[in-house]
Amino acid sequence: MLVNNMKKRVLVCLTGASGAIYGVRLLRALKASDNEVHLIISKWGEETLKYETGIDKDTISKEADYSYDEHDLAAGPASGTFPIDSMVVIPCSMKTLAGIAHGYADNLIARAADCTLKERRTLILVPRESPLNLIQIRNMATVTEAGGLVIPASPAFWAKPKTIDELVDSVVERVLTHLGVTDDKRAMWTGD
Ligand SMILES: Cc1cc2nc3c(=O)[nH]c(=O)nc-3n(C[C@H](O)[C@H](O)[C@H](O)COP(=O)(O)O)c2cc1C
Repeated sequence: MLVNNMKKRVLVCLTGASGAIYGVRLLRALKASDNEVHLIISKWGEETLKYETGIDKDTISKEADYSYDEHDLAAGPASGTFPIDSMVVIPCSMKTLAGIAHGYADNLIARAADCTLKERRTLILVPRESPLNLIQIRNMATVTEAGGLVIPASPAFWAKPKTIDELVDSVVERVLTHLGVTDDKRAMWTGD
């Protein structure tokens, strides 16, 4: 994955949806291009991370520049004055989506998303759920109306991925593009 040097401060949050690998690959891609990564992993994010990838929370946390407890509502990301450029919830559970959509900031992830929206910064949610009920669809619409961006964990096949990592990266590259930290032409359909 080619990533350029438009260095950003990004808050990456892993929640308890399936697809923990998306969060891991995003964190590593951001770090590989020398961005500053702030990390929050929810309790169920930690469980799915361990179950699906075998990686434990402490190990992945060491790869970030800063990490925070989801219950620490006195941590920096709980304030809109905290200087981050953007926030990504990847994967994003339907529960965290609901909290963000309704401003129910009962943990640091939902509160940081509240702040990101109110400060008009980039908020990206990467849900992995199928099928969707009407409540979930409406919650995605609400976040979109509030200025957030929903990028479903829906890999593309037109680049002819040969490995699971390549499939995963087709989603991660969409996120990197919207964060403004990549100009990887392989992630773009050029018509050639
Ligand atoms: C193995 C596993 C897979 C799960 N997959 C999903 C999922 O894909 N989407 C989802 O919304 N919730 C999923 N859940 C349920 C969430 O973990 C649960 O709703 C939890 O309360 C989310 O909390 P959080 O958003 O604070 O991490 C899964 C749970 C487990 C144990």
